[in-house]
Amino acid sequence: MRLEDKVAIITGAGQGIGLAYTERFLDEGAKVVMAELHGERGEIGHNSVRDRGDAMFVQTDIADPDSAQACVDAAMDRFGRVDVLLNNAAIYMDLDITNQSLDYLKTVFEVNVYGQWIMASAVAPHMANQNSGRIINQASIAAYLYNSMMPAGGDFPGLSNNAYQLSKWSVIGMTKYLAGQLGSWGITVNAIAPGLTFTEATKTVVPAEAQGLIMMMQSIKQEIQPEDMCGAAVFFASEDAAMVSGQVLCIDGGMTMPA
Ligand SMILES: NC(=O)c1ccc[n+]([C@@H]2O[C@H](COP(=O)([O-])OP(=O)(O)OC[C@H]3O[C@@H](n4cnc5c(N)ncnc54)[C@H](O)[C@@H]3O)[C@@H](O)[C@H]2O)c1
Repeated sequence: MRLEDKVAIITGAGQGIGLAYTERFLDEGAKVVMAELHGERGEIGHNSVRDRGDAMFVQTDIADPDSAQACVDAAMDRFGRVDVLLNNAAIYMDLDITNQSLDYLKTVFEVNVYGQWIMASAVAPHMANQNSGRIINQASIAAYLYNSMMPAGGDFPGLSNNAYQLSKWSVIGMTKYLAGQLGSWGITVNAIAPGLTFTEATKTVVPAEAQGLIMMMQSIKQEIQPEDMCGAAVFFASEDAAMVSGQVLCIDGGMTMPA
């Protein structure tokens, strides 16, 4: 087991990739705080992992500093330390791609970007006291798909807010700035950028034709599953990655291959 007795807060842990991270971290011996906005999702997710190890569910809104702080306080009360923050939660399943307004751009940033920063700022003092910590931010290869969904000329349709893509690009930048800031206290900060991963959210948000098209753009033409993300998360959380910081690992079946 590679994460024996490590304490990890995993956000958005009620379903999808966050739940897969939770299962794998428990299997690797970690104690997991499942921070999830939706009460029912969190309860169901928590019940499904009860037999696997030591997990607790704390209903949390990562975009709300008081709620984020209460989650970290609950982790400290129960386990006495926080070794890993896996910043996985985002507006994805509930994404409204028809809403191209500035207000909606702000709404998506509140969770997908500021939420990760809020969680990082709540764990950082504890990690600094411990002189060790791991922060793993969930980005997306959507950050690199600059011209997706644009029509081939014609009447200008108005400026897209590209809210999801911009938010995930911001996560990549924030990862590097946090890495630069926190290294002196033994804290590493890295990001995982999944490709199209077959969760319930993807099946809801991404049209079936687009799913097939994206898979054909991968070098490895197979469906990516939530479990495919877990090895990278365990690596970033482990002692093996002690000197790895500010990095983005794309897990996309060889699709984007950024330098
Ligand atoms: N599935 C994919 O293809 C894919 C690809 C690239 C990146 N990602 C990213 O991976 C992560 C998980 O994706 P998923 O497919 O499991 O999506 P999902 O929508 O099923 O999971 C996101 C979870 O975050 C929770 N959440 C939303 N807002 C929250 C908040 N304010 N506070 C706390 N929790 C909140 C949701 O309730 C949900 O359980 C997301 O960051 C997503 O953007 C997914």
